[in-house]
Amino acid sequence: MSQRRAHRAAILHTVADPREVGIEACYQYFEDGLLVVEDGKVVQLGDAEELLPALGGDVEVVTHGDALITPGFIDTHIHYPQVGIIGSYGEQLLEWLETYTFPGEAQFEDIDHARAQANLFIKELLRNGTTTALVFGSVHKQSVDAFFEQALELNLRMIAGKVLMDRNAPDYLRDTPESGYADSRELIERWHGKGRLHYAVTPRFAPTSTPEQLAAAGKLFNEYPDLYMHTHLSENKAEIEWVKELFPERDGYLDVYDHHGLIGARSVFAHGVHLCDSECARLGESGSAVAFCPTSNLFLGSGLLDLEKLEGHGVRVGLGTDVGAGTSFSQLQSLNEAYKVLQLQGQKLDPFKALYLATLGSARALYLDDKIGNLQPGKDADFVVLDYCATPLLEHRTGRADSLREKLFALMILGDDRAVKETFAAGESLHRR
Ligand code: GUN
Ligand code: ZN
Repeated sequence: MSQRRAHRAAILHTVADPREVGIEACYQYFEDGLLVVEDGKVVQLGDAEELLPALGGDVEVVTHGDALITPGFIDTHIHYPQVGIIGSYGEQLLEWLETYTFPGEAQFEDIDHARAQANLFIKELLRNGTTTALVFGSVHKQSVDAFFEQALELNLRMIAGKVLMDRNAPDYLRDTPESGYADSRELIERWHGKGRLHYAVTPRFAPTSTPEQLAAAGKLFNEYPDLYMHTHLSENKAEIEWVKELFPERDGYLDVYDHHGLIGARSVFAHGVHLCDSECARLGESGSAVAFCPTSNLFLGSGLLDLEKLEGHGVRVGLGTDVGAGTSFSQLQSLNEAYKVLQLQGQKLDPFKALYLATLGSARALYLDDKIGNLQPGKDADFVVLDYCATPLLEHRTGRADSLREKLFALMILGDDRAVKETFAAGESLHRR
């Protein structure tokens, strides 16, 4: 049993999708709020003045000053072996993979390298206020061991998997349908459900797996309860043409995954920027999710995600950084770029909707909204303390803001890791700026 502790500051979280309930009903805000935490969970949330009298004299109250507590950010798509190649120049997806990504991922055969990179990666997530991520490993099973060992040690809620790829990749990075299945099974047995960890069956994308491997992945996905399936979909036009050539018998890119039993609740598809209506409808009815990765889509010149269309078809949409094609670990920066991606299509991203996307919406995309995504009592105590005055410009702009909405918008347009003052997971402080 850990000691009951209370955090006092302004507190903001979302409780529903503004698309369903409207902006005013989608959030709760406590200007002088209190978040009471015990044994890694939220036990009370409300106005400080109401809760303090009944709190009990032995409860430590931590006052965070002129700051904003929000739920920890959730990243629904990121590659941990790509920290070392972030910001690599000049290519679009397929050439970028060949030139930078595959050589970088080859080094993860070495467990010591994997451990060092996992350490850097997790620190960077926490520095940016991200407390849960859906993570690609490399093809090597030890890459996932290195990641989960450290996530378990810190008691983080994390989802990861070993990449499956048995063709159209260098020899040194290929597995086989049999070895990929066996290695994934071994990792599931070792990690899935341990602490707050979950396993994702992770075929890289349709072009790098044979139909035999995709079938094995589909079989595995259905063999254990609550597994995830994590892959890429319709990111880049040349990629989509290539999938058509490789799978002429299938009715488009999504159908390749559908045919192999890879669609449904807990299936997460990164990107989905070039989907037709029938593909959106299929994703929606099957309960699958799309990870919207704006910094990556702009960096690789992939295209603009049509949020209105996806949500109109009932697709669960989460927010992802897609580091190392994405250019920042900060979900505030993802929201900054998401706003612009939508502006270019005549769509709006209200600041409260943006907060929803980075927290509860992403939790819903991952079917974890009963555990994370907001600060309702009973949820995991994963939260961040944001600093309105992190930079002179932020201080100046938020100081002139007339409303919470305006301050929140300034935070997501101007903020990044500097705006994250402290990050808590399961009630423990894991990063302090
Ligand atoms: N498609 C297949 N592999 C990758 C990858 O590593 N990054 C991105 N952005 N797209 C991919
Ligand atoms: Zn990716």
